[in-house]
Amino acid sequence: MRGAERRVVILGSTGSIGVQTLDVIERLNRKTHLFSVIGLSAGKNVDLLAEQIRRFSPIAVSIEDEEGAEELHRHFQTIEILVGEEGLSELARLKRADLIVNALVGAVGLAPTLAALSLGRTVALANKESLVIGGELVTASLHEDGGTLLPIDSEHNALLQCLRAGKISEVKQVVITASGGPFLRRPIEELAHVRPEEALSHPNWAMGSRITIDSATMVNKGFEVIEAHHLFSLPYKQIDVIIHPGSHVHSLVEYKDGSILAELAASDMRIPIQYALTHPERIDTGLPRLNLDITAPLKFEPLDPGRFPAFTTVLHAAKEGGTAPAAINAADEILVKRFLTGEIPFTGIAAGLEVILNRWVALKGSPDEEHGKISLQTIRSIDRWARSEAAALQW
Ligand SMILES: NC(=O)c1ccc[n+]([C@@H]2O[C@H](COP(=O)([O-])OP(=O)(O)OC[C@H]3O[C@@H](n4cnc5c(N)ncnc54)[C@H](OP(=O)(O)O)[C@@H]3O)[C@@H](O)[C@H]2O)c1
Repeated sequence: MRGAERRVVILGSTGSIGVQTLDVIERLNRKTHLFSVIGLSAGKNVDLLAEQIRRFSPIAVSIEDEEGAEELHRHFQTIEILVGEEGLSELARLKRADLIVNALVGAVGLAPTLAALSLGRTVALANKESLVIGGELVTASLHEDGGTLLPIDSEHNALLQCLRAGKISEVKQVVITASGGPFLRRPIEELAHVRPEEALSHPNWAMGSRITIDSATMVNKGFEVIEAHHLFSLPYKQIDVIIHPGSHVHSLVEYKDGSILAELAASDMRIPIQYALTHPERIDTGLPRLNLDITAPLKFEPLDPGRFPAFTTVLHAAKEGGTAPAAINAADEILVKRFLTGEIPFTGIAAGLEVILNRWVALKGSPDEEHGKISLQTIRSIDRWARSEAAALQW
């Protein structure tokens, strides 16, 4: 990579993607100093953020609450310490930032994505919720403000790579692969009794808790369909999902002439993270490689909607459009937490999402939506509504 050093802000630096992003930056900087980290953010993990501040010397950080901010102030007097949701957006607008990595989990990631894009910045996006709940707002900002969005999600990063081979008008369909998660072969009647530890044990990927549970229910795969729809401006009928238990092929693009291009790599998120950071160039930083000898044969199978009812509900919400995906995302954030604390069964997540979507359909038609325009405010109000509905659901 040529050119001047790039100044990076990492939102959610204490999470799974955030920590791996910092590892990639250290690897790249060992070659030539390419990146300087000027902003970091954490939710609750003040200790890890403090360690990262010592390692990377950012000029500003953001933390979820005042208590965390007070603790940071005691140790660091020379850096700017921002707080709460507004702090995340301020960090995304930090002067002189060239690249914002959004590795936040959940709906809280949307406003900072919009803040960065409104200044025409480049956002490396892991926070798929930005597109799931605010796809129209993000797309409008990309058109109006001239920013750039580079997906970190391995499937979309794979599609981005495969789409370099042809024009979007030449695409017949994109195919998103799904590992099937920990319960692909578990008898369906046992799913009501699976424990959180079992659902948290993903066969191929080590990730944050919410996306791991979303991979077990396939809510995550439904979200990825919505993400692909907005990222690549493709209608839903051109986006398919296929089960590929090995997680070697990260997604495929089928062109109109019958050629199918796939991206294969080791199941290591640092590979797509690095591609987003160095895009469109590629650099060898010693990350794990896929051994083709042990990979073959590649196996694919159709997704069974009877096993993954939440996937179908997310697709229904996607087709409803408007604020339906925001309602489903908010409800899912609550239902996943309730499952992890033992309050509801695993199957309660899918059942709860269906109830929330039905209630959303019954209520639909806010004044904003009737005019075909969704605002951040409408999304926030539906988000609050769905959270309180999901929290009150009884089993
Ligand atoms: N992990 C993966 O391999 C993977 C793969 C593909 C896509 N993704 C997507 O990437 C995003 C991040 O996933 P992850 O697995 O890295 O999640 P994670 O490990 O749970 O990390 C989430 C990060 O967000 C911070 N955070 C959470 N709530 C916050 C709030 N209210 N205010 C401020 N900060 C907050 C957390 O801070 P604390 O930890 O300090 O509380 C942490 O830094 C998600 O959208 C996920 O779907 C992840």
